[in-house]
Amino acid sequence: MTPSLNEQGLAEADLVFRDAVVLDGARDRAEICDVAVTQGRILRLFSREERSKIRAKDEYFCRERKALLPGFANSHTHVAMTLLRGLGEESPLKDWLEKHIWPVEGRLKPRHIRIGTQLGVAEMISGGITCFGDMYFHMDEVARVATEVGIRCGLCQGLIGNAPLFSLKLKEGIRLYDHWHGKNDLITVQLGPHAPYTVSPKLLTQVAGAARGLNAGIHIHWLETEWERSYIEQELKKDPIDLLYETGLADVTSLILAHGVWFPENRLKEIAKDNIAVVHNPSSNMKLGSGFAPVSQMLKEGVHVALGSDGAASNNRLDMWLEMRTASLMQKGYYKDPTLMKSKDALKMASYAGCKALGFSNVGMIEEGWKADFAVINLDNARYIGWNKDNLASFIVFSGSSRDVCGTMVNGKWVYKDGEFPSLDYEKVMYDAKEARKELLAI
Ligand code: NI
Repeated sequence: MTPSLNEQGLAEADLVFRDAVVLDGARDRAEICDVAVTQGRILRLFSREERSKIRAKDEYFCRERKALLPGFANSHTHVAMTLLRGLGEESPLKDWLEKHIWPVEGRLKPRHIRIGTQLGVAEMISGGITCFGDMYFHMDEVARVATEVGIRCGLCQGLIGNAPLFSLKLKEGIRLYDHWHGKNDLITVQLGPHAPYTVSPKLLTQVAGAARGLNAGIHIHWLETEWERSYIEQELKKDPIDLLYETGLADVTSLILAHGVWFPENRLKEIAKDNIAVVHNPSSNMKLGSGFAPVSQMLKEGVHVALGSDGAASNNRLDMWLEMRTASLMQKGYYKDPTLMKSKDALKMASYAGCKALGFSNVGMIEEGWKADFAVINLDNARYIGWNKDNLASFIVFSGSSRDVCGTMVNGKWVYKDGEFPSLDYEKVMYDAKEARKELLAI
């Protein structure tokens, strides 16, 4: 790491946020300081007394009325499903998938994925999201959009099916890893077996072996529905935790278990490992009638939990503000205990925990040397009257919304600022998305 002060005792930075209200998932209270950024990283945080040491090419004035949060990580989604939003609303899950979603997904071409991803990325960066975990098809398009726009993405090709075809798909997943993993300091690649009910234990073992060979992570749907748990127990004659260990999934470098609603509560300790993260998707779990994940129990047992929106067809928003609020309210309401899932925990789940699970290091906290990924929040509005350094986290989680985001930065570059998208042609994306939707739904 480059030293933060030069020989004259001065910090030379690309940009400094002046008088920023800084908060992240590790801080018990907000602090007001100047945050200097250089070469995509946080050079240092300066107190008021030290601020004269900064020489910056550019300044952003927060005036103690704008908060600097770590950018949010939407850790489990299928972003291009923005083109499928609203299809088969409020149908039973099986009908929703078989009659409404799968037929349209069968018609998705790479250019649809590109447009749907651009549309979803526009929504996410305008809400302060700087990192997303995506499982879908034609993932080269997703990687291209992410690198063009400049947003972090941990991506995987959804792997599904039986032996001969599955091997081809696994090869494709490995090709993606070889081609994109680590690209531009923005992309990580995982292998993405879809779920234990669409990929047999034998094939899961094969994927886990491949992941260990590459030192790649795995992203999989796990125990989303009660039906899925009984399928594992009754059809496969396995225990869902044992299955993670028997297939070797639990031993890959990073295992992302999406949803995780139906874990046996008495065995949560067994997934409290540094290389395993559950991605909680509270809105999707409720909208699809999947149930309540025992997240506060998971946290108590030391399980790493991140947050996600799932796809726009089952949420229908790609909005981490909503997920933080919903996650916290669900735990308090379900267990009849308002002390559960504190706003600080929700903030950490929505930022640092997701970035770590997706394989990004030094991302998701506001500390010296960490990546300059921020959501800038305007506190100068009616819903924030009364905030102070001690209560800001609860104002963010319970009173705040994505409308409060006035800037989003990744690796020190603005990807959204005051309603503008410097790296995305928003009007064109809107036009293309309307046309793509018409085309996809015309039978
Ligand atoms: Ni999903």
